[in-house]
Amino acid sequence: MQIRKLKNLRGEICVPGDKSISHRAVMFGALSHGETRIRHFLTGADCLSTISCFSSMGIEILQEKDQVLVKGKGLHGLSAPRDVLNVGNSGTTMRLISGILSGQDFTSSLTGDASIQKRPMKRVIDPLRQMGADITSVPGNGCAPLLINGRPLHGIHYTSPVASAQVKSCVLLAGLYADGLTSVTEPVLSRNHTEIMLQYFGAEVDSAGTTASIRPEPTLVGRDVLVPGDISSAAYFIAAGLLIPNSEILLKNVGINPTRDGFLRVCRAMGADITLLNEVREGEPTADLLVRTSPLRGTVVEGDIIPTLIDELPMVAVMAAFAEGTTIIRDASELRVKESDRIRVMTENLQKMGVDITEQPDGMIIHGGAPVHGAVVDSCKDHRVAMSLAVAGGICDGVLTIHDGDCVNISYPEFYQDLYSLSEP
Ligand code: S3P
Repeated sequence: MQIRKLKNLRGEICVPGDKSISHRAVMFGALSHGETRIRHFLTGADCLSTISCFSSMGIEILQEKDQVLVKGKGLHGLSAPRDVLNVGNSGTTMRLISGILSGQDFTSSLTGDASIQKRPMKRVIDPLRQMGADITSVPGNGCAPLLINGRPLHGIHYTSPVASAQVKSCVLLAGLYADGLTSVTEPVLSRNHTEIMLQYFGAEVDSAGTTASIRPEPTLVGRDVLVPGDISSAAYFIAAGLLIPNSEILLKNVGINPTRDGFLRVCRAMGADITLLNEVREGEPTADLLVRTSPLRGTVVEGDIIPTLIDELPMVAVMAAFAEGTTIIRDASELRVKESDRIRVMTENLQKMGVDITEQPDGMIIHGGAPVHGAVVDSCKDHRVAMSLAVAGGICDGVLTIHDGDCVNISYPEFYQDLYSLSEP
């Protein structure tokens, strides 16, 4: 993929549906009685992997563009898959399904692509085993493929060492099949889409501070779900709109759940002009975001805000390169175990583009203002790296060539078209 400098961005755009919410709508729809209709579903490869896994377990799922109909069969309606379940590149699919599969009365195995086979699964294996699950890492290194012999589970209170919505959701989903209350306490609150949506489907979920708990064996009932625009996808356009001179763009109906809005807070701390319009605060909060070109200054991103913008940190690193002064990102070692090691990969790529950036064990230090130029960079097949670099390529001088730029397909198949559609010819 080759990216050239973009002219001012103007106009409106509706970013694709939220990835986390799209996954959950399919999963919870499958475990409910009756039909779940999903609108503005994300048709990226990750969410299609979730559909394919539940189809393999006997759930009828009809998809036409971004509309999905899930014909749920209740908590105990899944059937044993004939084959290994393949989650592709999707950590959310693998970790959340592990919780569901642990409580079934059949055996299943889960695998995925080269990236997913390197990502830590011990973080879900440990709590699931405490619940009595029979789950094993087949290679014995705490990674996938996983083999799960479904069996009766116990309710536990789990204190998670990491702030991870995937771990929390995995344990809560296993808790649907447990013999008593299951709760999870995390060090910092992670995204709470599971809690919000499970309650909407009829589960008894309580949230207090950083603890969420669930009662077993609810009767879940299929619902209509309108998926908000994904703030993680909106982040690329927000950054481009702020940095490309003379831009003004409106991003329609973006999710602004407070457990996901850290990117907006960081943008504002950097001096961004972003106005929220048409705010809706019930269920999953949403707003239209009006973004205007703004001079940016460096900032420090650390502590409790990190889980609320974890997927946007590659974009923050790029913004910092074009900002005045120094930006420090710390407490973000989780970035090393995402689809790629995003600290290393972003540092190496941005250095090739002339950026003054240094890698830290848990983050990056970026001195903004150095001239940024085109180069040949490698997404390492990580969609968020590819899109963050593409924005950098749209701002810097010269041509940016991104290896494996088509991996945007994981979360945003129309990303490049949407980016160019906003740029004046
Ligand atoms: C997700 C949680 C986050 C995030 C991922 C999606 C989810 O991962 O990075 O893109 O849908 O629950 P962790 O739970 O590993 O932090």
